[in-house]
Amino acid sequence: MSPAPSTSTSAPPVPIILDCDPGHDDAIAIVVAARHTELVGITTVAGNAPLSSTTRNAIIMRDLLELATPVHSGANRPLIRPARHAGYVHGASGMDGADLPEPSGPPASHDAVGWIIETCRQREGIWLVPTGPMTNIALALRAAPDLASRIAGISLMGGGTFGNRTAAAEFNLWCDPEAADIVFSYGGPLIMSGLDLTHQFQALPHRIEMVRALPGHLAAVLSDLFDFFSATYTSRHHHIDGAAVHDPCAVMALTHPDLFTRRLAHVEIETQGERTAGMTIIDQRDLKEVPDPNCDWLTGIDADAGWQIIVDAIAHYSR
Ligand code: RIB
Ligand code: CA
Repeated sequence: MSPAPSTSTSAPPVPIILDCDPGHDDAIAIVVAARHTELVGITTVAGNAPLSSTTRNAIIMRDLLELATPVHSGANRPLIRPARHAGYVHGASGMDGADLPEPSGPPASHDAVGWIIETCRQREGIWLVPTGPMTNIALALRAAPDLASRIAGISLMGGGTFGNRTAAAEFNLWCDPEAADIVFSYGGPLIMSGLDLTHQFQALPHRIEMVRALPGHLAAVLSDLFDFFSATYTSRHHHIDGAAVHDPCAVMALTHPDLFTRRLAHVEIETQGERTAGMTIIDQRDLKEVPDPNCDWLTGIDADAGWQIIVDAIAHYSR
């Protein structure tokens, strides 16, 4: 299990491809990735909203940050299951709650999978960072098995010790359990930011105010998005005081690994269960004979320090 990249100031930024379904928290992952990684490209997948919406939202975020990063559109549905979305959390657009500009144009291509394969063959050592259903990543690994030894690893948001879309399964893995199974069994470095971690990282009111206090248009837009996102979370949960800001964790796992506590574990994905499909089965047995670990399971985060990283990244682009 290779450790996450060094974050020493002299080290070059980690090259990543962010595969996402914006999505309020995906949008923040884009900001952090733009600030702290070499963001080779953004690929989009159906998830929080239909593919057309997640792609539109990714382009809007790219534009707001004034990046040259290409956005490639990918799978409009899971490998074998129908497309299902999360308008009840993110709104019909996938990023409700703010006055967003029109996208500057179409995606660079509609072949995210082919672009991922070509890019990772041309340049080894890229981290794949999926923060939505893992359909694109699974399709790339299945079409090009050599990618498993060419990429640096996969740092994903998904899974965990409890579910959100069902009692057993987290939304990204619930959408496409078969894709998640391909990813979790691909054999290379794997970092999991699951719900047991990301629910420790909430957009609390005072944290949103830190963003709203920043100058510039981007901070105003993102604080409006945080307000909407948190309102849906607090209206649906008994004991949550702000939206769980899931997706930036998968990026910070690479850029700021010291924020986290972690355990190596063997993690498998349930794909057959009528009630448990998409569940991450994390082997926590205290036995000498358990399957070898395949996953770096992030278990804790310094939430205040992590939030400061988000605020500083937003400040960098908010003018
Ligand atoms: O379950 C949370 C995950 O599902 C996050 O990535 C959110 O953006 C949605 O994709
Ligand atoms: Ca997401």
